[in-house]
Amino acid sequence: MTSSSGMEEREMSRVKKLASKYNDFNGAMRRELHKYPEPSMEEKRTANRLIEELNKMGLEAKKYAGTGVVCLIKGSGEGKTVALRADIDAIELKEENELTYSSVNEDLMHGCGHDGHTASLLTAAKILNDIKDEFTGNVKLIFQPGEEIASGAKKMVAEGVLNDVDAIFGIHLMNEMEVGKISVESGPRMAAVNKFSITVKGKGGHGSLPHQGIDPIITGSAIVMNLQSVVSREMEPLAPVVLSVDIFQSGSRFNVLPEEAYLEGTTRCFSPEINDNLENIMRRIVENTAASYRAEAELVYDKLSLPTINDPVIAEIGTGAAEKIVSKNGLVKVEKTTGGEDFSYFAAEVPAAFAFVGSKNEAKLDFYPHHHPKFNIDEDALEISAGLYAQFALDFLAQ
Ligand code: NI
Repeated sequence: MTSSSGMEEREMSRVKKLASKYNDFNGAMRRELHKYPEPSMEEKRTANRLIEELNKMGLEAKKYAGTGVVCLIKGSGEGKTVALRADIDAIELKEENELTYSSVNEDLMHGCGHDGHTASLLTAAKILNDIKDEFTGNVKLIFQPGEEIASGAKKMVAEGVLNDVDAIFGIHLMNEMEVGKISVESGPRMAAVNKFSITVKGKGGHGSLPHQGIDPIITGSAIVMNLQSVVSREMEPLAPVVLSVDIFQSGSRFNVLPEEAYLEGTTRCFSPEINDNLENIMRRIVENTAASYRAEAELVYDKLSLPTINDPVIAEIGTGAAEKIVSKNGLVKVEKTTGGEDFSYFAAEVPAAFAFVGSKNEAKLDFYPHHHPKFNIDEDALEISAGLYAQFALDFLAQ
């Protein structure tokens, strides 16, 4: 509870010292996880290894949402409960790196850095377990499955994983940022991700006699064009929204008027209100445009992830923790991104912050973006991530 700088300094070096002490473990775990990547919601080996390692630390762990793992580290007395979250799944991608620990599972790869998140959170467990007599309250470790398909967080929340949790903190390694840099800013950080499909039903016929049919291609084209006015004419100019039609399929032959057209695409936004309204606006345009061409159209709209919004108070605690790990020079501001995060389902339930941790180091590794077959991280980011997880938990519980 003391805010004397002497105390903070001791605590700071304590976490960093332990993150350094366990760094070999962190690196070895990350390489092992990298070698055995598993698909979303099928992370069986990963989950069992996590439980095994947590048990070795004398900690109990439970499975959630199938292959998720949750573990509570109890401090010395009653207090708040803070959750730390890592995602554990890999992606369907054929690894092109030639490493001693390259993926041995065909067409699966830890191509997003989740191996690093998982190893770092497991290392944070070691750090926090070593000093559990020195904090009050609890730290709940949440290893979530199925981030890439936006499925695991929702299921864990439904199973009550956040029922006793006061705040949650998550990390994503970022190859667009230099190693040694951390961003934990308040406000929107990642977009809501929605997927839509539109089936346009016309009436087939001969291409030479279009008046006998109802053209789904003309109708679909008009829908694509009219949807472009949603962002430009119906959204506040200062609120970013993306609406992209990425698939348009119809027809089979040059002189056959097809019966149907199929469109698919995505919307992205950062405002929960806009996210709630977009579907209805699109439905109005899709159905009325089709009607004006005598056709019918059906919109199917799936919300995959919500906007990831950092709570100002939690983000400030995160920024303070980051400063203790990488110093003031390591703090950077990063623009929000139109990518999505399953963490948003946790952040919608309790005050949350999501940090970006730099993992780029072109002196050691060529730069490749996330989800690239040659993606790799500078492992120096692991020690930073483990330290940041642990420091955040201590700082939150000390509030
Ligand atoms: Ni990811």
